[in-house]
Amino acid sequence: MTTRRTIGPEELDTLDLADPRLHAEDELSAVWRHLREHEPVHWNPGTETAPGFWVVTRHTDVTSVYRDNTTFTSEGGNVLETLLAGGDSAAGRMLAITDGDRHRELRRVLMSAFTPRALQPVVASVRRTVDRLLREAIDKGNCDFAADVAAGIPLGAICDLLGVPESDRAHVLSLTSSALGSHDADGTAADAWIAKSEILLYFANLARDRRDSGHADVIALLAGSKVNGFPLDDDEIMLNCYSLILGGDETARLSMVGAALALVEHPDQWQALKQGDAGVDTAVEEILRWTTPALHSGRTATTDTEIAGRPIRAGDIVTVWNASANHDEQVFYDPGRLRLDRTPNKHCTFAYGPHFCLGAYLARTEIGAVLEGLRDLVQDMEQTGPSKPVYSNFLSGLGSLPLVLK
Ligand code: HEM
Repeated sequence: MTTRRTIGPEELDTLDLADPRLHAEDELSAVWRHLREHEPVHWNPGTETAPGFWVVTRHTDVTSVYRDNTTFTSEGGNVLETLLAGGDSAAGRMLAITDGDRHRELRRVLMSAFTPRALQPVVASVRRTVDRLLREAIDKGNCDFAADVAAGIPLGAICDLLGVPESDRAHVLSLTSSALGSHDADGTAADAWIAKSEILLYFANLARDRRDSGHADVIALLAGSKVNGFPLDDDEIMLNCYSLILGGDETARLSMVGAALALVEHPDQWQALKQGDAGVDTAVEEILRWTTPALHSGRTATTDTEIAGRPIRAGDIVTVWNASANHDEQVFYDPGRLRLDRTPNKHCTFAYGPHFCLGAYLARTEIGAVLEGLRDLVQDMEQTGPSKPVYSNFLSGLGSLPLVLK
């Protein structure tokens, strides 16, 4: 029920990989395969309004770029949207777009809120939420798995971490959807910009309220910590809260919705999960590889260099495509097949190296809880209507998936 137009390598010259419609509506696996084989470091030409950029597609080159944050910095932006717009005003202050000593220090501070031990209460609450939402969806019969089940899980966890009051959560959810992944083809950059500004304002207010409140949440943690000897200011606290919500909500949601679709579309794998032939741990990793919610990451070269023998000039924009690396035949056996018992599974879904996803453990726990819930509570699933993709060159997946859970 999900039909996508297959794009072949012969169309490569006319493609702009920054175009959200391409990723939402078309099937690009043949293009990625071609690039990995024949042109692993491809130049995507600029347009009248935006510069060109390098497109890195092989697993080995993707991980090399990720590993070297001295030659390939995130401080010019870490996604096409900001890189093509000329930079990110939060550079050097928000974790994902900071490098060097400051990144290490800020990461150390935030990391303490993301250890398995620190996350115990959040994980317990995720499991309760998944159980409740799945039971409600089963009782209702028909549901939109994206809106009725997945939407409530990661945002709830991040709001727990940040101490966002229950009454504000629906508002924060609607802002995050418009800020990062336009759910329809007509969503504009202006809508996204307004939503981003509103999120920032929301967290600025929350940070001010929380600074000396004695709460035990991430906002209070940030407010009480020093980075390179100095306390974080309100702006830095607000930006890092914002990055948790934008980095950890929709990505995880999209992988859960993708998990449900994958199980509907692969009945043999659904049975393997239900009968215990595939364990939840390997299934989570395969769902992460299969769905790859973050299509790419972006960097700026700080010096003249080369990738796989291709010269790169200082200042060039370099994008690494997780979507391609996760299907690299040199690393994954039969990459086009969903195998919930796949092992090893060295996917790049959470990136690699110094910027490896801070929320990986939390995301894995959330997806694991959904898979366990589906396995234990649901006998059968069917798609009841057309799904809707998100329109983004960064996020990939479905904003709507009508299902009946029995
Ligand atoms: C970094 C993906 C869930 C917070 C990243 C990066 C990727 C990624 C690809 C690296 C970005 C780069 O190198 O430029 C994902 C996916 C998720 C997920 C696919 C879900 C399936 C989460 C969650 C949180 C989170 C749940 C927090 C609640 C972060 C943060 C960083 C990050 C703070 C920046 C780390 C750094 O720069 O040191 N994530 N993420 N992510 N992620 Fe996630």
